[in-house]
Amino acid sequence: MSKLILGIETSCDDTSVALVDRSGAVAAIKTVSQYDIHEAFGGVYPELASRAHLHAILPTIQTVMTDAATTHSDLEAIAVTRGPGLIGSLLVGLSTAEALSMGWGVPAYGINHLRGHIRSAALEGGITEFPAVVMLVSGGHTLIAFLENEWSYRLLGTTRDDSVGECYDKVARTLGLGMPGGPAIDRAAARGTPVLRLPRPMKNDAYEFSFSGLKSSVARHVETHPDVSVDDMSASFVAACMDVLAAKAERALKECAPKSLVIVGGVAASAQLRETMSALVERYGVTLSLPPVKWATDNAAMIAMAAWDYVERGVQPDLMPKPNLSLETP
Ligand code: KG4
Ligand code: ZN
Repeated sequence: MSKLILGIETSCDDTSVALVDRSGAVAAIKTVSQYDIHEAFGGVYPELASRAHLHAILPTIQTVMTDAATTHSDLEAIAVTRGPGLIGSLLVGLSTAEALSMGWGVPAYGINHLRGHIRSAALEGGITEFPAVVMLVSGGHTLIAFLENEWSYRLLGTTRDDSVGECYDKVARTLGLGMPGGPAIDRAAARGTPVLRLPRPMKNDAYEFSFSGLKSSVARHVETHPDVSVDDMSASFVAACMDVLAAKAERALKECAPKSLVIVGGVAASAQLRETMSALVERYGVTLSLPPVKWATDNAAMIAMAAWDYVERGVQPDLMPKPNLSLETP
């Protein structure tokens, strides 16, 4: 059996554990979602998130090891998210990894969650050619960066306010679509027509993003037109997001001339975003690098995948939690 990395991800509201080999093949994965716990609060309640991680973490590790018929002697390393994320949630994954590392005599690597998302595009045979432009669109982040190679990151721009995923979730709530908002909006948008005029905030402002104005604009429209079609509003909202994201990606393709465009993070599960970006890269003769849909959202397979780079390089990032860890920090 080839060696595996045991990935552990507890940065927010998913307890995820996975076993991944060097090629990016996922031997086993289990993700325990906390949607039911947080739904009533309209967002993640940090104190409850850490308690739920504590409850789920060891049984989830045990299930994944059993599913893959693996013992600790098959492990090359343990990979665990050390930031960015909620401090209480991070500590559960980190202290579990540290204890297992000591007990099993297997080295543990503290992994940057954002690098995990970027390396999600390499899972299951995915290839990222360098130099690359990466757009990370998740619930916690919206950013665009230039990657000379796997180790050299230059941030081009980020959001001034809400992230795209956050905006999807808030609009879903306004439209009564519930949580998780992204997939619900995605489905409603596929049924609707983008007939409503919504703003495209900062579409032409270099690499900066802003989404709170778009979210407020949807809320105002729904308030003044309570009988608006949810499907048409979802389609119009998605069209506005796509316009903005495509404009930023296109600017980066022109200015940075990369070999590939990498789209990662929870919103990369969106069918519309995949279509929009496919059409864009075709015009520029660039390859599109995407994670498998099921691993666009938070998961431990991407954390294990990112750790393989460090193992190969002989660098072992520590296990100190860093709630505000940035993209450029290893
Ligand atoms: O990457 P992720 O799981 O967590 C963070 O690191 O933030 O991203 C979660 C975000 C949520 O805001 C969710 O609404 C969005 O990803 N999302 C989607 C879809 N699936 C999840 N957005 C659009 N279309 C989807 N199919
Ligand atoms: Zn994430």
